[in-house]
Amino acid sequence: MSTEQCDNPLHADYYADDSVHYTAEVIENEEVAQDTWRIRFRCPAMASKCKPGQFIMLKITDRDDPLIGRPLAVFDITVDQQGVPTDLDAVYLVKGNLTTRLVELPAGQELDVWGPLGNGFLPQQTRHLIMVAGGIGQTPFVTLAREYLGLTNYGRDCPQAEEVTLCYGARNESLLAGVDTFQSVEGLNLRLCTDDGSRGHHGLVTEVLEQVLVADKEAYGSNNGVRVVCCGPEPMMEAVAGVSQRWNVSCQVSLETPMACGIGICFTCVTKVLQSDGTWDYKRTCVEGPVFDASKIVWH
Ligand SMILES: Cc1cc2nc3c(=O)[nH]c(=O)nc-3n(C[C@H](O)[C@H](O)[C@H](O)COP(=O)(O)OP(=O)(O)OC[C@H]3O[C@@H](n4cnc5c(N)ncnc54)[C@H](O)[C@@H]3O)c2cc1C
Ligand code: FES
Repeated sequence: MSTEQCDNPLHADYYADDSVHYTAEVIENEEVAQDTWRIRFRCPAMASKCKPGQFIMLKITDRDDPLIGRPLAVFDITVDQQGVPTDLDAVYLVKGNLTTRLVELPAGQELDVWGPLGNGFLPQQTRHLIMVAGGIGQTPFVTLAREYLGLTNYGRDCPQAEEVTLCYGARNESLLAGVDTFQSVEGLNLRLCTDDGSRGHHGLVTEVLEQVLVADKEAYGSNNGVRVVCCGPEPMMEAVAGVSQRWNVSCQVSLETPMACGIGICFTCVTKVLQSDGTWDYKRTCVEGPVFDASKIVWH
C-alpha cells in the first residue's frame, strides 16, 4: 500500500479486500474457564492469512439470531504436520445472543466466518514487549508472543524481542482462560494477577505492569526499547495508557468496540482519535483499528 493510500481512510485498501468467507466446520468447542469457551474451526485459506491482533466475524450458519456477525480475536492458529495453517481458535466469554448459542455447537456443525479483519499489531523493533490483558483481553496475545519470540513466522518478518512478558489479570482464578496455552509458549514471562488474590499477584494488572517496568529499568538502566500493548475493558486500557505515559514508554491498545459490519461500511464502531492538529476525529475500529496508539485515543 502506498503512503498516499495509507493516509486516505476511505481508500478501498482499508476494506476487507484480503478477507475470505467460510462456512467452516467446528472441530472442537470446549469450556476452558468459567463462562469462557475455546472454539476451533477449519478454514485453511483464512488461517494462512491471519496476523497477530487481527479478528474475525462469526455467525452461526442457518440461524437468524443474531442476524449479524460478532467480532472475536484470533486466539491461535493450528498447523498440520507440514506446518501449513489449517484451523483457527477463538476464545469467547459467554455474554449475549451469539455466544450463548455458540456453546451449544458441537464438533461437525457449521459456522459462518469472515476475515481476517483489522490492522493487527505491526512488527516493530522492540527490546521488551510487555502485553497487558484484563478479563477476556488476553485473546490477541498468544500469536503476538510467538511472533516476537521468533517461534512462529506469520508470513512476514518481525524483529525478535529480547524479552516478552504477559501481565494478565482477571477478577478471580476461575476466569483466567488459556493460561496453559501461554505457559506452553517457550520463553514467555507470564505474570498473573487476580482482584481477590486467588492466583498470582493480589491486585490490579496495572500494579503488575509497574513491577515489570521497575525490574526492566533495574536490569537495563532505562526503559528504552520497551513497548506496551494492551487489551481488555476500556477503564483498564485507559489506566494502562496512563501508566505507559508516566513511564514514557509507547503503548498500543486493541479496542473492543461493538461492531456491526466489521468491514468499514456502517460506522457503528467509531472511536475518537486525536489528529496531528490537536483536534479529534472518528476512526472506525474495524478497518483503522482495532489497534491504535494509546496516546491518540480520546477516552471520554
Ligand atoms: C476486535 C474485537 C475483538 C474481540 N475479541 C473478543 C474475544 O476474543 N473474545 C470475546 O469473548 N469477546 C471479544 N470481543 C467482544 C465481543 O465481540 C462482544 O462481547 C460480542 O458482543 C459478543 O457477542 P454476543 O452476541 O454474545 O453478545 P451481544 O448480544 O452482542 O451483547 C451482549 C451485551 O454486551 C454488550 N456489548 C456488545 N459488544 C460489546 C463490547 N465490545 N464491549 C462491551 N460490551 C459489549 C451489548 O451492548 C450487550 O449488553 C471482541 C470485540 C472486538 C471489537
Ligand atoms: S463495524 Fe461497520 S464500519 Fe466498523
